[in-house]
Amino acid sequence: MIAIEDVSKRYADGTVAVDRLSLQIPNHSITVLVGPSGCGKTTTLRMINRMIEPSSGTIRVDGQDVQRQPVNALRRSMGYVIQNAGLFQHRTILDNIATVPRLLGWSKQRARARAAELMERVGLDKDMARRYPYQLSGGQQQRVGVARALAADPPILLMDEPFSAVDPVVRRGLQEELLRIQGELGKAIVFVTHDMDEAITIGDRIAVLRKGGRLAQFAAPDELLSSPADEFVEEFLGGDRGIRGLSFLSTRDLELDRSRVFPIDADRQRIARATSARPADAQPVLVTGIDGKPLGWTDPAAWNGDAGTLTPYGQSFEVGRDSLRVALDRAVLSPTGHAVAVDGSGRVLGIAGQETIAAAIRAARQRHAATSPQGTEYPQDPPPVKATR
Ligand SMILES: Nc1ncnc2c1ncn2[C@@H]1O[C@H](COP(=O)(O)OP(=O)(O)OP(=O)(O)O)[C@@H](O)[C@H]1O
Ligand SMILES: [Mg+2]
Repeated sequence: MIAIEDVSKRYADGTVAVDRLSLQIPNHSITVLVGPSGCGKTTTLRMINRMIEPSSGTIRVDGQDVQRQPVNALRRSMGYVIQNAGLFQHRTILDNIATVPRLLGWSKQRARARAAELMERVGLDKDMARRYPYQLSGGQQQRVGVARALAADPPILLMDEPFSAVDPVVRRGLQEELLRIQGELGKAIVFVTHDMDEAITIGDRIAVLRKGGRLAQFAAPDELLSSPADEFVEEFLGGDRGIRGLSFLSTRDLELDRSRVFPIDADRQRIARATSARPADAQPVLVTGIDGKPLGWTDPAAWNGDAGTLTPYGQSFEVGRDSLRVALDRAVLSPTGHAVAVDGSGRVLGIAGQETIAAAIRAARQRHAATSPQGTEYPQDPPPVKATR
């Protein structure tokens, strides 16, 4: 655990970059620092590995004051990744990644073997090992940067806007990759970003800083979205924090309608009987294959058993894995206003209309309010898998 205790940084010209900051950064988690430009994020990060020395206060790693540790050993125990990767242009990809193991005295062979292993871990083709950084795309260079930081298996990773120079699609891929790697390695990661969406996607906890390096709020993403501490945080979160907050509500307890789902070989009379008994008989039914996977929508009265006449169902959501945000999105995009719910193998579990999803959102919010008076957690709704938000 990294403990930042009452730390301030005043630069020589009098600029106060960080002002009495205290933060507890736990192991095995991703802590994100966000805030407007110039609010002291980079300064904070660099004080952890002593690239910048604090003016006052203490930073401890696992109880040890970093000031009392030899600076080289300290830095090697912390991987550091920056925007544009900061690779050594005259070294091959393999040798870039092998840098710290070589500094630690590993043999060339062992360091390169480790580098090759890391290339695979971060999703880089091994053909790239002999290339130079300029022969890689920006996204690939960022992956090399992450691999290099991980090479000596440091317990801590410091990442300063590592993905902000790449386009949104590549960036999304890099975020997912980081979450996957973190799932396997469980580092203490401190991640700086300007981008609230990125913070919510990857952060276990988010520290929002305001100008002058003062802490505005330090909370889990769902708490930040549901209970911003003040107007500054609220404004920083942006206008759609309500919709974003749905990412943290599970679809596990969503009430699904199974009465309007039929396999393609179902008797047409049966479909007609089942649907005409209902007041909503004008609404379409979902037809599935005999394997239970969705095929499309049809008007029950017009159904003639021909799969070619079905209206495409678009995208489904996976119950339990996807959030209510995903379910609502599917329903909004659905030609019938209903989202198709499937299990892990893609078989239909039922359908859910927009009203049903809205009711589930209200119920989850009420549960939240009842079980957590300070608005801290969703004890009955653990966040869905992060990568699906
Ligand atoms: N060496 C320095 N001397 C004087 N002031 C500095 C120095 N380095 C940074 N600052 C100032 O300290 C403040 C915090 O800078 P810092 O780089 O930590 O911000 P940041 O939050 O990382 O910003 P950005 O999002 O733009 O990267 C800024 O006002 C900056 O101008
Ligand atoms: Mg910065």
